[in-house]
Amino acid sequence: MEIIILPTPEDVGRVAADLISSVVKAKPTAVLGLATGSSPLDIYHSLATRVAAGELDVSQASGFALDEYVGIPLEHPESYAAVIARDVVGPLGMDPAKVRVPDGRALDIEAATAEYDAAIAAAGGVDIQILGIGANGHIGFNEPTSSFASRTRIKTLAPETRAANARFFDDPADVPTHCLTQGLGTILDAHRVVLVAQGAGKAAAIAAAVEGPLSAMCPGSALQLHQHATIVIDEAAAAEL
Ligand code: GLP
Repeated sequence: MEIIILPTPEDVGRVAADLISSVVKAKPTAVLGLATGSSPLDIYHSLATRVAAGELDVSQASGFALDEYVGIPLEHPESYAAVIARDVVGPLGMDPAKVRVPDGRALDIEAATAEYDAAIAAAGGVDIQILGIGANGHIGFNEPTSSFASRTRIKTLAPETRAANARFFDDPADVPTHCLTQGLGTILDAHRVVLVAQGAGKAAAIAAAVEGPLSAMCPGSALQLHQHATIVIDEAAAAEL
């Protein structure tokens, strides 16, 4: 695990974007693992600035999102399909036909999640997976107690995750109770992983993920098993290291 500690959240976004940019420059058809949440937004802004300046072309790259809510329509502004389209595909000039999000409306969830993992494998695997981390240590929507061997599947959201994500919904009761998420095993299959975290609210989760024991109680600690994991954090998120 490589740990990079930087002064500001903007620095975190820029340095993580440098990593992603170098992957895409070396392989224009790279497969990107896309995360939602507020943590990666500075990465996407930084990449979008490079695309607008003509320094980077992501139009041939493909993408697989980490997760999706179950039980909200695709066109809901907070569905991860809508978030990925708005925050990533549009600003980066990615080809929408090359970007997939797990189908939270699938009637046969088991078949849909197995097909999602198969599609990632058929694409040659994820070249670089972008990750944030929840205050409880979750990555993707792999809540504490998730198996390190897990594949893409349906999960129940932890009460603290529903509370944290209530800010995106008009009414806290509107936050879905279930989600689809790539498993920890799926995430660990990515060729390279870059996890970003900013702010004091993530300090305990970062300390547990980086220095704590490997534990299903801190899903982020699974990244200790990955050979090419880079953790890019600001000083506030590094405070408990
Ligand atoms: C969300 C997402 C995760 C994200 C995490 C932290 O619910 N499913 O992919 O990393 O929780 O979110 P944020 O970056 O907004 O703090």
